[in-house]
Amino acid sequence: MTAPCALTVGDFLAAFEAEPEDAALLADEVGRHDFRYRRLPQAERDAVILSVLRKLDGFTEVGAHRHDIWQSAWADVARRYDESGNDLAALEPGFIGATSYIRLFGDYAQPLAAGFEFNYFRVLRRWLFGKYLTDARHVYEFGCGSGFNLVALAQSAPDKRLIGLDWAAPAIDLIARVAAHHKLPLEGRRFDFFAPDPNLALEPHAAAMTFCALEQTSEQCTIFLDWLLERRPEIVVSMEPVIDFYDPDSLVDDLAIRYHTRRRYLTGYLPWLIAQAEAGRIELLKARRLRMGNLFHEGFSLLIWRPARRA
Ligand SMILES: C[S@@+](CC[C@H](N)C(=O)[O-])C[C@H]1O[C@@H](n2cnc3c(N)ncnc32)[C@H](O)[C@@H]1O
Repeated sequence: MTAPCALTVGDFLAAFEAEPEDAALLADEVGRHDFRYRRLPQAERDAVILSVLRKLDGFTEVGAHRHDIWQSAWADVARRYDESGNDLAALEPGFIGATSYIRLFGDYAQPLAAGFEFNYFRVLRRWLFGKYLTDARHVYEFGCGSGFNLVALAQSAPDKRLIGLDWAAPAIDLIARVAAHHKLPLEGRRFDFFAPDPNLALEPHAAAMTFCALEQTSEQCTIFLDWLLERRPEIVVSMEPVIDFYDPDSLVDDLAIRYHTRRRYLTGYLPWLIAQAEAGRIELLKARRLRMGNLFHEGFSLLIWRPARRA
Protein backbone atom coordinates (compact mmCIF):
# COMPACT_ATOMS: atom_id res chain seq x y z
CA MET A 1 0.00 0.00 0.00
CA THR A 2 1.50 3.35 -1.03
CA ALA A 3 1.53 6.13 1.57
CA PRO A 4 -1.14 8.79 1.08
CA CYS A 5 -0.22 12.19 -0.35
CA ALA A 6 -2.06 15.49 0.17
CA LEU A 7 -2.47 18.54 -2.04
CA THR A 8 -0.79 21.64 -0.64
CA VAL A 9 -1.29 25.34 -1.33
CA GLY A 10 1.79 25.06 -3.57
CA ASP A 11 0.12 22.31 -5.62
CA PHE A 12 -2.90 24.55 -6.23
CA LEU A 13 -0.72 27.51 -7.18
CA ALA A 14 1.20 25.34 -9.65
CA ALA A 15 -1.99 23.84 -11.11
CA PHE A 16 -3.56 27.26 -11.63
CA GLU A 17 -0.23 28.77 -12.74
CA ALA A 18 -0.87 31.41 -10.08
CA GLU A 19 1.53 33.98 -8.64
CA PRO A 20 3.20 33.04 -5.31
CA GLU A 21 1.44 36.01 -3.67
CA ASP A 22 -1.91 34.37 -4.49
CA ALA A 23 -1.15 31.86 -1.72
CA ALA A 24 -2.94 34.19 0.71
CA LEU A 25 -6.08 33.97 -1.42
CA LEU A 26 -6.11 30.17 -1.25
CA ALA A 27 -4.62 29.23 2.12
CA ASP A 28 -7.83 29.50 4.20
CA GLU A 29 -9.91 27.48 1.78
CA VAL A 30 -7.22 24.81 1.31
CA GLY A 31 -6.77 24.55 5.08
CA ARG A 32 -10.48 23.93 5.57
CA HIS A 33 -10.54 20.62 3.64
CA ASP A 34 -8.94 17.19 3.61
CA PHE A 35 -7.02 16.86 0.34
CA ARG A 36 -5.35 13.53 1.07
CA TYR A 37 -5.41 10.88 -1.64
CA ARG A 38 -3.78 7.55 -2.42
CA ARG A 39 -2.51 6.07 -5.65
CA LEU A 40 -3.94 2.75 -6.81
CA PRO A 41 -2.07 -0.57 -6.86
CA GLN A 42 -2.01 -2.16 -10.32
CA ALA A 43 -4.91 -4.60 -9.88
CA GLU A 44 -7.19 -1.83 -8.58
CA ARG A 45 -6.08 0.55 -11.34
CA ASP A 46 -6.82 -2.13 -13.95
CA ALA A 47 -10.29 -2.62 -12.45
CA VAL A 48 -10.93 1.13 -12.59
CA ILE A 49 -9.91 1.30 -16.27
CA LEU A 50 -12.07 -1.70 -17.09
CA SER A 51 -15.05 -0.13 -15.32
CA VAL A 52 -14.60 3.08 -17.35
CA LEU A 53 -14.40 1.12 -20.61
CA ARG A 54 -17.55 -0.82 -19.73
CA LYS A 55 -19.50 2.34 -18.91
CA LEU A 56 -18.46 4.41 -21.93
CA ASP A 57 -21.10 3.17 -24.36
CA GLY A 58 -23.90 3.81 -21.88
CA PHE A 59 -23.47 7.59 -21.67
CA THR A 60 -26.02 9.87 -23.30
CA GLU A 61 -25.16 12.76 -25.62
CA VAL A 62 -25.65 16.37 -24.54
CA GLY A 63 -27.59 18.84 -26.71
CA ALA A 64 -30.89 20.61 -27.31
CA HIS A 65 -32.89 17.41 -26.71
CA ARG A 66 -31.89 17.52 -23.02
CA HIS A 67 -33.91 20.62 -22.17
CA ASP A 68 -36.61 18.67 -20.30
CA ILE A 69 -34.01 16.68 -18.38
CA TRP A 70 -32.46 19.91 -17.07
CA GLN A 71 -35.90 21.32 -16.27
CA SER A 72 -36.65 18.33 -14.10
CA ALA A 73 -33.15 18.23 -12.54
CA TRP A 74 -33.48 21.85 -11.32
CA ALA A 75 -37.10 21.29 -10.24
CA ASP A 76 -35.75 18.50 -7.98
CA VAL A 77 -33.10 20.82 -6.55
CA ALA A 78 -35.78 23.49 -5.94
CA ARG A 79 -37.84 20.92 -4.04
CA ARG A 80 -34.79 19.96 -1.98
CA TYR A 81 -34.16 23.63 -1.21
CA ASP A 82 -37.77 24.10 -0.06
CA GLU A 83 -37.69 20.97 2.07
CA SER A 84 -34.44 22.13 3.68
CA GLY A 85 -36.09 25.37 4.84
CA ASN A 86 -34.17 27.65 2.43
CA ASP A 87 -30.76 26.14 3.23
CA LEU A 88 -28.24 27.50 0.69
CA ALA A 89 -26.26 24.24 0.90
CA ALA A 90 -29.21 22.54 -0.83
CA LEU A 91 -28.32 24.48 -4.01
CA GLU A 92 -25.06 22.58 -4.48
CA PRO A 93 -25.37 20.28 -7.49
CA GLY A 94 -24.77 16.55 -7.14
CA PHE A 95 -22.75 16.14 -10.35
CA ILE A 96 -19.49 17.50 -8.92
CA GLY A 97 -17.80 14.76 -6.94
CA ALA A 98 -20.14 12.00 -8.08
CA THR A 99 -17.34 9.44 -8.60
CA SER A 100 -15.27 7.92 -5.80
CA TYR A 101 -12.09 7.77 -7.90
CA ILE A 102 -10.56 10.89 -9.40
CA ARG A 103 -7.84 11.69 -11.96
CA LEU A 104 -4.96 13.75 -10.68
CA PHE A 105 -1.64 14.67 -12.31
CA GLY A 106 -2.14 12.20 -15.15
CA ASP A 107 -3.26 9.11 -13.23
CA TYR A 108 -6.12 7.80 -11.15
CA ALA A 109 -6.28 8.26 -7.41
CA GLN A 110 -8.71 7.75 -4.56
CA PRO A 111 -9.40 10.57 -2.09
CA LEU A 112 -9.30 9.59 1.57
CA ALA A 113 -12.23 11.84 2.50
CA ALA A 114 -15.56 12.60 0.82
CA GLY A 115 -15.93 15.86 -1.08
CA PHE A 116 -12.39 16.08 -2.55
CA GLU A 117 -13.51 17.19 -6.03
CA PHE A 118 -16.09 19.66 -4.74
CA ASN A 119 -13.61 21.12 -2.28
CA TYR A 120 -10.99 21.39 -5.04
CA PHE A 121 -13.60 23.34 -6.98
CA ARG A 122 -14.20 25.62 -3.96
CA VAL A 123 -10.48 26.50 -3.88
CA LEU A 124 -10.44 27.12 -7.63
CA ARG A 125 -13.59 29.25 -7.48
CA ARG A 126 -12.18 31.33 -4.63
CA TRP A 127 -9.07 32.01 -6.71
CA LEU A 128 -11.01 32.82 -9.89
CA PHE A 129 -13.30 35.25 -8.05
CA GLY A 130 -10.41 36.94 -6.21
CA LYS A 131 -8.19 37.13 -9.25
CA TYR A 132 -10.53 37.99 -12.12
CA LEU A 133 -13.77 39.46 -10.78
CA THR A 134 -12.68 42.15 -8.35
CA ASP A 135 -13.28 45.03 -10.82
CA ALA A 136 -16.59 43.73 -12.19
CA ARG A 137 -19.75 45.54 -11.15
CA HIS A 138 -22.08 43.13 -12.94
CA VAL A 139 -21.37 39.42 -13.10
CA TYR A 140 -23.33 37.19 -15.52
CA GLU A 141 -23.15 33.43 -15.13
CA PHE A 142 -24.45 31.68 -18.24
CA GLY A 143 -25.83 28.17 -17.67
CA CYS A 144 -25.89 28.91 -13.93
CA GLY A 145 -28.24 26.12 -12.77
CA SER A 146 -29.26 26.64 -9.14
CA GLY A 147 -27.08 29.77 -8.94
CA PHE A 148 -24.89 28.35 -6.16
CA ASN A 149 -21.74 29.95 -7.64
CA LEU A 150 -23.39 33.36 -7.67
CA VAL A 151 -24.59 32.86 -4.10
CA ALA A 152 -20.95 32.17 -3.08
CA LEU A 153 -19.88 35.32 -4.93
CA ALA A 154 -22.63 37.40 -3.28
CA GLN A 155 -21.40 36.27 0.12
CA SER A 156 -17.80 37.32 -0.55
CA ALA A 157 -18.50 40.42 -2.71
CA PRO A 158 -21.93 41.86 -1.81
CA ASP A 159 -21.32 45.05 -3.82
CA LYS A 160 -21.78 43.36 -7.22
CA ARG A 161 -25.02 42.87 -9.19
CA LEU A 162 -25.30 39.21 -10.12
CA ILE A 163 -27.31 37.78 -12.99
CA GLY A 164 -27.81 34.03 -13.40
CA LEU A 165 -28.92 32.84 -16.84
CA ASP A 166 -30.14 29.39 -17.79
CA TRP A 167 -32.58 27.79 -20.19
CA ALA A 168 -34.34 25.84 -17.41
CA ALA A 169 -37.33 27.74 -15.98
CA PRO A 170 -37.23 25.99 -12.56
CA ALA A 171 -33.63 27.20 -12.10
CA ILE A 172 -34.59 30.81 -12.84
CA ASP A 173 -37.60 30.62 -10.52
CA LEU A 174 -35.39 29.11 -7.79
CA ILE A 175 -32.82 31.91 -8.13
CA ALA A 176 -35.55 34.55 -7.71
CA ARG A 177 -36.80 32.87 -4.54
CA VAL A 178 -33.28 32.43 -3.12
CA ALA A 179 -32.48 36.09 -3.80
CA ALA A 180 -35.70 37.30 -2.15
CA HIS A 181 -35.40 35.08 0.92
CA HIS A 182 -31.68 35.68 1.56
CA LYS A 183 -31.74 39.31 0.37
CA LEU A 184 -29.00 38.79 -2.22
CA PRO A 185 -28.23 41.16 -5.15
CA LEU A 186 -29.07 38.37 -7.55
CA GLU A 187 -31.59 37.89 -10.35
CA GLY A 188 -32.36 35.07 -12.78
CA ARG A 189 -33.08 35.26 -16.48
CA ARG A 190 -34.01 32.74 -19.16
CA PHE A 191 -31.29 32.28 -21.75
CA ASP A 192 -30.52 29.70 -24.42
CA PHE A 193 -26.96 29.11 -25.64
CA PHE A 194 -28.41 27.89 -28.94
CA ALA A 195 -30.50 31.05 -29.49
CA PRO A 196 -29.06 33.93 -27.42
CA ASP A 197 -31.36 36.90 -26.98
CA PRO A 198 -30.32 39.56 -29.56
CA ASN A 199 -31.88 42.26 -27.34
CA LEU A 200 -29.91 41.41 -24.22
CA ALA A 201 -27.14 43.95 -23.63
CA LEU A 202 -24.59 43.59 -20.83
CA GLU A 203 -24.27 46.36 -18.26
CA PRO A 204 -20.98 48.32 -18.13
CA HIS A 205 -18.08 46.72 -16.22
CA ALA A 206 -19.51 43.27 -16.83
CA ALA A 207 -17.83 39.93 -16.26
CA ALA A 208 -19.19 36.77 -17.88
CA MET A 209 -18.68 33.25 -16.52
CA THR A 210 -19.47 29.71 -17.58
CA PHE A 211 -18.87 26.79 -15.24
CA CYS A 212 -19.40 23.30 -16.73
CA ALA A 213 -22.23 24.78 -18.80
CA LEU A 214 -20.97 25.50 -22.30
CA GLU A 215 -19.86 21.85 -22.22
CA GLN A 216 -23.49 21.09 -23.06
CA THR A 217 -23.36 22.77 -26.47
CA SER A 218 -20.91 20.58 -28.43
CA GLU A 219 -19.64 22.40 -31.53
CA GLN A 220 -22.52 24.88 -31.34
CA CYS A 221 -20.70 26.82 -28.60
CA THR A 222 -19.63 29.41 -31.18
CA ILE A 223 -23.24 30.70 -31.50
CA PHE A 224 -22.95 31.89 -27.91
CA LEU A 225 -19.29 32.94 -28.17
CA ASP A 226 -19.92 35.20 -31.18
CA TRP A 227 -22.90 36.71 -29.35
CA LEU A 228 -20.83 37.27 -26.20
CA LEU A 229 -17.88 38.85 -28.01
CA GLU A 230 -20.23 41.38 -29.61
CA ARG A 231 -21.37 42.43 -26.13
CA ARG A 232 -17.80 43.14 -25.03
CA PRO A 233 -17.71 42.06 -21.38
CA GLU A 234 -14.55 43.18 -19.59
CA ILE A 235 -13.58 39.60 -18.83
CA VAL A 236 -14.82 36.08 -19.55
CA VAL A 237 -14.00 33.26 -17.14
CA SER A 238 -14.83 29.76 -18.35
CA MET A 239 -14.25 26.54 -16.49
CA GLU A 240 -15.16 23.78 -18.94
CA PRO A 241 -13.86 20.43 -20.22
CA VAL A 242 -11.52 21.18 -23.14
CA ILE A 243 -10.77 18.21 -25.38
CA ASP A 244 -7.81 19.93 -27.06
CA PHE A 245 -5.76 19.71 -23.86
CA TYR A 246 -5.64 15.90 -23.69
CA ASP A 247 -2.64 13.90 -24.84
CA PRO A 248 -3.89 11.11 -27.14
CA ASP A 249 -0.77 9.06 -26.31
CA SER A 250 -1.69 8.85 -22.62
CA LEU A 251 -4.03 6.00 -21.61
CA VAL A 252 -5.80 8.08 -18.94
CA ASP A 253 -6.24 11.01 -21.35
CA ASP A 254 -7.35 8.70 -24.16
CA LEU A 255 -10.20 7.50 -21.95
CA ALA A 256 -11.16 11.12 -21.27
CA ILE A 257 -11.17 11.83 -25.03
CA ARG A 258 -13.47 8.84 -25.55
CA TYR A 259 -15.80 10.01 -22.77
CA HIS A 260 -15.85 13.61 -24.03
CA THR A 261 -16.51 12.45 -27.59
CA ARG A 262 -19.18 9.96 -26.55
CA ARG A 263 -21.06 12.68 -24.63
CA ARG A 264 -20.56 15.16 -27.49
CA TYR A 265 -19.20 17.69 -25.01
CA LEU A 266 -17.83 21.11 -25.89
CA THR A 267 -15.91 21.23 -29.17
CA GLY A 268 -14.22 24.25 -30.70
CA TYR A 269 -13.99 26.76 -27.85
CA LEU A 270 -10.17 26.82 -27.71
CA PRO A 271 -9.80 26.88 -31.54
CA TRP A 272 -12.34 29.74 -31.65
CA LEU A 273 -10.31 31.66 -29.05
CA ILE A 274 -7.04 31.08 -30.90
CA ALA A 275 -8.59 32.30 -34.18
CA GLN A 276 -10.04 35.39 -32.48
CA ALA A 277 -6.72 36.15 -30.78
CA GLU A 278 -4.85 35.80 -34.09
CA ALA A 279 -7.32 38.20 -35.69
CA GLY A 280 -6.67 40.69 -32.87
CA ARG A 281 -10.26 40.56 -31.59
CA ILE A 282 -9.56 39.09 -28.15
CA GLU A 283 -6.76 38.71 -25.64
CA LEU A 284 -6.38 35.16 -24.37
CA LEU A 285 -5.31 35.48 -20.73
CA LYS A 286 -5.26 31.84 -19.72
CA ALA A 287 -5.79 28.50 -21.44
CA ARG A 288 -4.90 25.79 -18.99
CA ARG A 289 -5.78 22.30 -17.90
CA LEU A 290 -5.45 21.64 -14.18
CA ARG A 291 -4.64 17.92 -14.42
CA MET A 292 -7.45 17.18 -11.99
CA GLY A 293 -10.83 15.66 -12.73
CA ASN A 294 -13.27 12.90 -11.95
CA LEU A 295 -13.15 9.28 -13.01
CA PHE A 296 -14.10 10.12 -16.58
CA HIS A 297 -12.57 13.45 -17.56
CA GLU A 298 -11.23 16.86 -16.52
CA GLY A 299 -14.17 19.24 -16.19
CA PHE A 300 -12.22 22.15 -14.67
CA SER A 301 -10.04 23.44 -17.52
CA LEU A 302 -9.68 27.21 -17.66
CA LEU A 303 -10.25 29.51 -20.62
CA ILE A 304 -10.01 33.16 -19.59
CA TRP A 305 -10.13 35.99 -22.12
CA ARG A 306 -11.31 39.48 -22.86
CA PRO A 307 -12.26 41.41 -25.97
CA ALA A 308 -9.25 43.31 -27.34
CA ARG A 309 -9.09 46.93 -26.22
CA ARG A 310 -10.09 49.32 -29.01
CA ALA A 311 -7.45 51.85 -30.06
C1 LIG B 1 -23.61 20.78 -15.64
S1 LIG B 1 -24.78 22.04 -15.35
C2 LIG B 1 -23.80 23.34 -14.64
C3 LIG B 1 -24.60 24.30 -13.86
C4 LIG B 1 -23.79 25.33 -13.07
N1 LIG B 1 -22.99 26.16 -13.92
C5 LIG B 1 -22.92 24.60 -12.06
O1 LIG B 1 -21.70 24.73 -12.11
O2 LIG B 1 -23.52 23.90 -11.23
C6 LIG B 1 -25.12 22.63 -16.99
C7 LIG B 1 -26.10 23.79 -17.00
O3 LIG B 1 -26.24 24.27 -18.32
C8 LIG B 1 -27.61 24.52 -18.57
N2 LIG B 1 -27.79 24.45 -20.02
C9 LIG B 1 -27.66 23.37 -20.82
N3 LIG B 1 -27.91 23.71 -22.10
C10 LIG B 1 -28.22 25.03 -22.10
C11 LIG B 1 -28.60 25.95 -23.12
N4 LIG B 1 -28.74 25.58 -24.39
N5 LIG B 1 -28.79 27.24 -22.77
C12 LIG B 1 -28.68 27.63 -21.47
N6 LIG B 1 -28.37 26.80 -20.46
C13 LIG B 1 -28.13 25.51 -20.78
C14 LIG B 1 -28.35 23.46 -17.79
O4 LIG B 1 -29.70 23.80 -17.53
C15 LIG B 1 -27.50 23.42 -16.52
O5 LIG B 1 -27.93 24.37 -15.60
